Amino acid sequence: MTIKLNDVSKSFKSQEKELEVVKDINLTVEDGEFLSLLGPSGCGKTTILRMIAGLDFPSKGDLTENGSPVTGPSPGRGFVFQQYSLFPWRNVLDNIAFGPEVRGMEARERYESARNYIEMVGLTGFEDSYPHELSGGMKQRVAIARALANDPEALLMDEPFAALDVQTRHKLQEELVRIWQEEDKTIIFVTHNVDEAVFLADRVVVLSSSPGEIIKTFKIELERLRDRTSTQFIELKKEITDLVGR
Ligand SMILES: Nc1ncnc2c1ncn2[C@@H]1O[C@H](COP(=O)(O)OP(=O)(O)OP(=O)(O)O)[C@@H](O)[C@H]1O
Ligand SMILES: [Mg+2]
Repeated sequence: MTIKLNDVSKSFKSQEKELEVVKDINLTVEDGEFLSLLGPSGCGKTTILRMIAGLDFPSKGDLTENGSPVTGPSPGRGFVFQQYSLFPWRNVLDNIAFGPEVRGMEARERYESARNYIEMVGLTGFEDSYPHELSGGMKQRVAIARALANDPEALLMDEPFAALDVQTRHKLQEELVRIWQEEDKTIIFVTHNVDEAVFLADRVVVLSSSPGEIIKTFKIELERLRDRTSTQFIELKKEITDLVGR
């Protein structure tokens, strides 16, 4: 799926004032690309992702998927939210089978598919567990599997690993890269963590704050899985950190 933003700006009204939070975003996310949107808290990352998801709309400019305007959410664009957002009353298997169930897939088929995704995210053995019985990392695995179960062309991820400890975060990053390589998805991954963006993405788009504008785009050509201790990795991280910190 190719996603295109043309001069996209977004304003919100608060206390009778128009506040522009995102400004003149021009960006083409290529089919199969792993793109990261990087910027400080409040710069408009979630706002941009919500517009791409079709959950909100630009105040100016336009947004297309495969050349057609985005007019609302679609199963083709799966979303993994900033906070855990599982159904507490459904076990792992039924959380993951939710989308296919809504679309009318018969039970045997949707459970077979859900089990496949459970294996892919490394949760075999936890099919019958409920969200409150899982750690944060496990909940995010369920959220990723649930998004994948709809077989979206694009996966929109909003700081999905931000709340995790560094070991768990690194593990899930590695698994996400593996899944992306196997499943041929377009991924837009929002983060404020430079290390995470450089580890994951083909391209890192750096945003400034208030209003969020694109300052610079970095193409990351290091081979995967990336070695955090390599000189190039460390130098790229430093260059981007200097830019974000300005
Ligand atoms: N529905 C809304 N109404 C009014 N203002 C909003 C709304 N949604 C977001 N904003 C404002 O837009 C700005 C950008 O918010 P957004 O959530 O997109 O930032 P972010 O980059 O995702 O931040 P974080 O890294 O903390 O998640 C903030 O100043 C926020 O207060
Ligand atoms: Mg956000």
